Amino acid sequence: MVKTLQHEDVRWLSPRDIYEYLDQYVIGQERAKRTVAIAAYNHFKRIHAVAKEPPGKSRFKKPLLKKSNILMIGPTGCGKTHIARNLAEILEVPFTVSDATEYTEAGYYGKDVEVMAGELLYAADMDVEKAQQGIIFIDEVDKIARRDHGSRTGAGSRDIGGEGVQQALLKMLEGSQVFVPYNLTQHWNKHDFVQMDTTNILFICAGTFTDIQRGGRAHVAGFGQQEDSSGHKPLEQRVTIKDLMDYGMIAEFLGRVPVLVELDELSEPELQRIITEPPDSVLNEYKALLALDGIELDFTPAAFREIVAFAKKRKVGARGLRTIFEELMHDVMFDAPENRGERIVYGAPEVREKLSQA
Ligand SMILES: Nc1ncnc2c1ncn2[C@@H]1O[C@H](COP(=O)(O)OP(=O)(O)OP(=O)(O)O)[C@@H](O)[C@H]1O
Ligand SMILES: [Mg+2]
Repeated sequence: MVKTLQHEDVRWLSPRDIYEYLDQYVIGQERAKRTVAIAAYNHFKRIHAVAKEPPGKSRFKKPLLKKSNILMIGPTGCGKTHIARNLAEILEVPFTVSDATEYTEAGYYGKDVEVMAGELLYAADMDVEKAQQGIIFIDEVDKIARRDHGSRTGAGSRDIGGEGVQQALLKMLEGSQVFVPYNLTQHWNKHDFVQMDTTNILFICAGTFTDIQRGGRAHVAGFGQQEDSSGHKPLEQRVTIKDLMDYGMIAEFLGRVPVLVELDELSEPELQRIITEPPDSVLNEYKALLALDGIELDFTPAAFREIVAFAKKRKVGARGLRTIFEELMHDVMFDAPENRGERIVYGAPEVREKLSQA
């Protein structure tokens, strides 16, 4: 699966390679998987092209190839973090998840955005070179939207310093030298700082943007149900830069996350596939665990539909599936050693009964 370029000593995965890997673990979200695959591929192409330029020559020239930082928009539990995590895995680069709401604008008391780079360094076992090509996932960027912007109402709960945090992130997103604390636990100690270059770090930002207004039209319920099988959504239904600015994201921030990708709410058939298909799916995990006790576990199709309907009602996407399984498997796990050699089959009534107590 891993291809090597003949003329360069560099490992080179094509967008298709990346997509095919993601496709094993991420159900649905076709457009997001393809977009992320292209962005990651271009990111490494760009790193490579820049590295080949003779020193000095490119200093005063605007780089032709811009960074392909990504902004993911989609409802909770639909796979935003999941895609980013799997991307980091296939690329074999260090990966960290940061929550935008934990940071403050420069000069205020709290976490400085540079700490994100520090965490990446930590994930890279303090290898600066490796960290400089890693991926930083910044979650909840919708919560750092500017307050009281335009005609928006109901924005009163937004973080007051949100715009300042967006400002603080600009340089990192674009690529700059930052000083990161070597020792994350004592970052007020002035001595242990390491210089890191964020130019080749891929930033993936994500947010739910739950109440965003598309094209100024009335709120579109859910995330576009009307896309075709290849995941292409009609243009007029996609979120635009203007919608995001109206929401309170500043133009400079959006300019530094040029790859915009929308994820959809997962359908019931997709939720069912998430239970059964990925190699690391929750069902496969329980099956393997029980197999160690000599127990065979199975569900009828109706039982799956029951589980999925329950998950759908909770409106937390795929996030709730694991919790549901823990509930369902509780007694089975407890009794497992005594039931060696048995075959346990869940039908819809058993599922309904167990979940009615949850
Ligand atoms: N499309 C998907 N395919 C397979 N599994 C998924 C998918 N979406 C979500 N999951 C599962 O659900 C869990 C939660 O999803 P994830 O953390 O990606 O949600 P999210 O979109 O980042 O939501 P939030 O906005 O709340 O952070 C994942 O760890 C994964 O196990
Ligand atoms: Mg997430």
